[in-house]
Amino acid sequence: MASLRLIDHDAVLAAVSPEQAIERVTEGFKRFACGDWVMPSKVYLDAPPGGDFRAMPARGDGLAIVKWVTSFPGNSAHGMPVVYGTIIVSSAESGEPLALIDGRAVTALRTGAVAPIATRAIAPEGARSVGIIGCGLHGAWVARCMAAAGYGDGVVFDATESLAASLAAEFGWRAGTRAEAAGQDVVCTITPGSEPVVTAADLRPGQHINALGADGPGKSELTPEALDSCLLFCDEWEQASHGGEITGAVARGVVARGDVTELGWLLTGVSSMRRDDKPTLFDSTGLAIQDLAICTALMAKLAAGEIDARSVDL
Ligand SMILES: NC(=O)c1ccc[n+]([C@@H]2O[C@H](COP(=O)([O-])OP(=O)(O)OC[C@H]3O[C@@H](n4cnc5c(N)ncnc54)[C@H](O)[C@@H]3O)[C@@H](O)[C@H]2O)c1
Repeated sequence: MASLRLIDHDAVLAAVSPEQAIERVTEGFKRFACGDWVMPSKVYLDAPPGGDFRAMPARGDGLAIVKWVTSFPGNSAHGMPVVYGTIIVSSAESGEPLALIDGRAVTALRTGAVAPIATRAIAPEGARSVGIIGCGLHGAWVARCMAAAGYGDGVVFDATESLAASLAAEFGWRAGTRAEAAGQDVVCTITPGSEPVVTAADLRPGQHINALGADGPGKSELTPEALDSCLLFCDEWEQASHGGEITGAVARGVVARGDVTELGWLLTGVSSMRRDDKPTLFDSTGLAIQDLAICTALMAKLAAGEIDARSVDL
C-alpha cells in the first residue's frame, strides 16, 4: 500500500515564491542541459473539439514525476480554467509514489519563472521595461515573476480590458494598447495563440520577445515575418519544433535545428550569446523539467515539515 501526501493549489503557492521558482527552474534547465535530469518529449492526446491532454514525465534528484495537464482554450468563456493538471511524484530509486501535487499552481509558477530566466540570459543588459500581451492566468504569473526579478515598469494589454487593468494595478504598471505593450524592451506574449499579437513592424534590434502562449500544434502569436526577423532561442528543440512558436517556420523550411539555441546551453555556457543586430525570440513550450524543479522544492519543504499536507493511503 502506498501513502501519498497531497499538496493543494494554495499550499504550492504558499511554499514556493516567484524568486525561489526562478532559482529552481534555472537550476533545472542547467541539470537537464548537462544530462543529470532526463525528460522524454511530452505526449499529446487530442480531445476535439475543445482541447488536448498532455502527459509530461521527467526524472532527476531522486524523483520521477508525470504531469497530466490540459489546454482547453474555450473554457474561459464558461468561467473555467484553460489548464487543469495533476502531478504524481514518485521515488526514482524504488518507484514508490510519494505525493500528488496540484499541477495548475506548479504550471503557473514554472511558466512565469522561465520568462525572467530567458530574459536574463538573452536580452541586452539594459533591457528593463516589460510588455505583457495576454493577462490571463499565466500572463499574470509571467508578470509576477518578471517583477520579482526586478524588471519593469510595464505596459500590459489584454483583449479583456478589466484583466489588463487589474494586473497593471498589482505592480503599479500601466494598461495600454497592444502596440504599446509590443514596443517595450522585453515583450511577453501569453495568449491562446489563435491570432498574431506581434508583427514585424513592432520589432527592433535589441528587443527581446518571450513567446509563451504557443505551446501546442497550430498555435502562434507572431506573424511569420516577425518570427523570421528574430534570432531564435527555445526551451527544447523537439517540443518547440513540433508544438511551439517556431513550428510554422520549421514546417516552411526556413528554420532548422542549427538556427535555434536552447536556453540550457546558454545557462551552462555550452553556447555563448550572440545578437546579430536582430530582435531575439525565446520560444517557451513548457517543459516537464520545469515542473520537476518546482516539485524538488516542494518535496524538500515537505521533508522539512514546512508544508502541512494530508496523507491518503491507496
Ligand atoms: N509555455 C508554457 O509553458 C505555457 C504554460 C501554460 C499555458 N500556456 C499557454 O498559454 C496560453 C494562455 O494560457 P492561460 O492559462 O493564461 O489562458 P487564459 O485564458 O487564462 O488567458 C489568456 C488571455 O489571453 C487574452 N487574449 C486572447 N486573445 C488575445 C489577443 N488577441 N490579444 C490580447 N489578449 C488576448 C484573453 O483575454 C485571456 O485573458 C494558452 O495557449 C496555454 O496553452 C503555455
